[in-house]
Amino acid sequence: QPGRIAVVGSNMVDLVTYITRMPGAGETVEAPDFEIGCGGKGANQAVAAAKLGSSVGMVSKVGSDIFGENTIRNLADHGIDTRHVTRVEGRSSGVAPIFVEPSGENSILIVKGANADLSPADVDAAEPMLRAADLILMQMEVPPETVAHTVRRAAEWGVRTILNPAPASAGLRVDDLRDLSFLVPNETELAVLSGLPTGTEAEIAAAARHLIARGIGTVIVTLGGRGARLVTQDRVLPVAPVRVSPVDTTGAGDAFIGAFAHFLAATGDIEHALHRAARYAAHSVTGRGTQKSYATAADFDAFCRALPQTA
Ligand code: RIB
Ligand code: NA
Repeated sequence: QPGRIAVVGSNMVDLVTYITRMPGAGETVEAPDFEIGCGGKGANQAVAAAKLGSSVGMVSKVGSDIFGENTIRNLADHGIDTRHVTRVEGRSSGVAPIFVEPSGENSILIVKGANADLSPADVDAAEPMLRAADLILMQMEVPPETVAHTVRRAAEWGVRTILNPAPASAGLRVDDLRDLSFLVPNETELAVLSGLPTGTEAEIAAAARHLIARGIGTVIVTLGGRGARLVTQDRVLPVAPVRVSPVDTTGAGDAFIGAFAHFLAATGDIEHALHRAARYAAHSVTGRGTQKSYATAADFDAFCRALPQTA
């Protein structure tokens, strides 16, 4: 039975340039390739969950340009409910110029555009859809007050929430996250939110527990090529990395979170959901781009069957 996932978050158009190296100031360097794709952390996570078979709805804002129309069409093509994806007159859509190095490593600039206008009122307008969800997913490419409002309302409705605090935002206050079910930061975001160092395994666990003591339910720290750690008050569960040769790591974190939400909503089993999510994210780095590299349920099953048993 497919779970119901709602995403309150961003959409962007990814302008991806595949480079041999970054130019210095005043320098011009030729790059071998360019691709345009649908991205944005919110939309990426929504599309990952939808491709795996969840029933997904989004609360988001696009600009009054061709990018906005294209974004709504793309979400709808993935079967995502777009009734609460609205257009802001006179605003550009969010865009993300992205630079991918031959190693698969990426650098991203984001221009929030209409995403900066997503407000608490938009969340309230989507209440029936949000209340009916098993999980509500959020990121930080929309205003922090909208995230804080969503966390508070979801707690009133008894709906579980997942926040990916990316990109790290100084505008996010830990006090606003008291009712949050799951926080999924990377090491940098965990350090910014907790105000503590996250350089070692012990520091990561301590920083996560500092947040748990302030009211956050569970912290899942993503460590890129080192896998992830599930931290609760009394244990740390390591999630092993899945080794693949990276082509493009852009959006791998979003693939992880969208898949985690999908498998958690479908099975209720956190550990199972984390292990599946790690595999799903690994698959995503083997293809170029963000959403277009995310596997469908069938492709994902085939990828998992082909992995060595130890992975
Ligand atoms: O997490 C990857 C995403 O970050 C990209 O799709 C880009 O749009 C930025 O939002
Ligand atoms: Na990818």
